[in-house]
Formats: sequence, C-alpha cells, structure tokens
Amino acid sequence: MKFFVDTADTADIKELAATGLLDGVTTNPSLILKAGRPMKDVIAEICDLVEGPVSAEVTATEADAMIAEGRSLAAIADNIAVKLPLTLDGLKACRTLTDEGRMVNVTLCFSANQALLAAKAGASFISPFIGRLDDINIDGMDLIREIRIIYDNYGFETEILAASIRSANHVKDCALVGADVATVPPAVLKGLVKHPLTDKGLEQFLSDWAKTGQSIL
Ligand code: G3P
Repeated sequence: MKFFVDTADTADIKELAATGLLDGVTTNPSLILKAGRPMKDVIAEICDLVEGPVSAEVTATEADAMIAEGRSLAAIADNIAVKLPLTLDGLKACRTLTDEGRMVNVTLCFSANQALLAAKAGASFISPFIGRLDDINIDGMDLIREIRIIYDNYGFETEILAASIRSANHVKDCALVGADVATVPPAVLKGLVKHPLTDKGLEQFLSDWAKTGQSIL
C-alpha cells in the first residue's frame, strides 16, 4: 500500500519525504486555507519536495470551468493529479482531462456506485472518505471493501485512495482490505511507527550494550 500525506503543510511534507516512506501528497481547499498561502505557490513547492502524485483540487463546479482549472493546475508540474469532485460535471471533466493524459483524483466518494462511475470515467484515483462515513455511523471500511471487489471484478486500474483517515486502525484496515493508497494526516502517519514495547526493548538493549563497554565502529 502506498502512503500519501493529506496536508498542505510543507514543513510536515519535507520531514516525511526525508524518511523515504512518502509516495505522494493530497490537498484540498480546506487544507489550503489552513496553510494560509497562495494555492499555486504551495502546490509548486510540494511538487518539488515529492516525486509522486500531488493532488490539487479544482473549485469550479461546471465541467468546462473544471477542465480549464484542471489544465492550469496540471501546468504547475508533471506530478500533479487534478482533484475533481464526484459530480456529473466532475466525471465529464475527468474523462476530458484523462484523455489528455493527465492524472485525475476523483474525490468526495461516498458510495460504491460513485466509485464505479469514476473508474468508467478513467480516473487514476478514487478517494472514498472513510472518517466522514464513520461520523454518520456508516462503516467507512465497508465502502473500501466493496470498491475493491467491484474494481477487481472488472479489472479497473483506478487506484483506491482511501481518504478521511483518522487513526492508525484505519490505516491497518485499509491495508487488510486492499486499498492501493492511504492518504493520512501527518500526525497519524508519524504515529504509525510508535509502540511502547519497541521503546522499552530498545532502552534495555542500549543499556546492556553500554555495559559491554564495546563499540561497533
Ligand atoms: O482530503 C480529503 C480528506 O482526507 C478529508 O479528511 O478528516 O476532513 O474528513 P477529513
């Protein structure tokens, strides 16, 4: 499973990119607001920091305007994935931009049928929102399972990019059910490495090693 980070905070992205574990970045208008900087500047900086896909979301709602915005965002760098909402206009724009050879991430997916339509429109990525379904007492992970089955039934190459991830358990469950990508908030991503028994075990090893009086180099 690939790891994307869901943020427009370039300090976090720089730190995570340095680990060699980061496969891409997703942003959305709310994350751009949080960054408090001009969108195209932030996106260009992110594209310099990571080689993988960087999702940049359009804000138009009508297909032709979405296509124009998508082309403008895609001109920022070769690794831009144009992010489009899951509406009929978004799917029309997806087909056009995909036919032009651009990566498209169809976002705000909350049903398996929506995901099926995005795959038929040629999307590179579909973004089902797990946490926001959990918020309304619908199991978000069931949606990832259903999309996995449907895409495998028909050999769709659209990658399942699990979004709205809120916890380490979400990440683990995404991997278990076969999501292609998880886009994870920086704090959750950094937290995945932590385990108290790892810390305790390391402390013991280092203390015993010190008692040997040896050094490896
Ligand atoms: O990028 C979309 C998504 O990951 C949003 O997450 O936590 O705002 O539902 P959240």
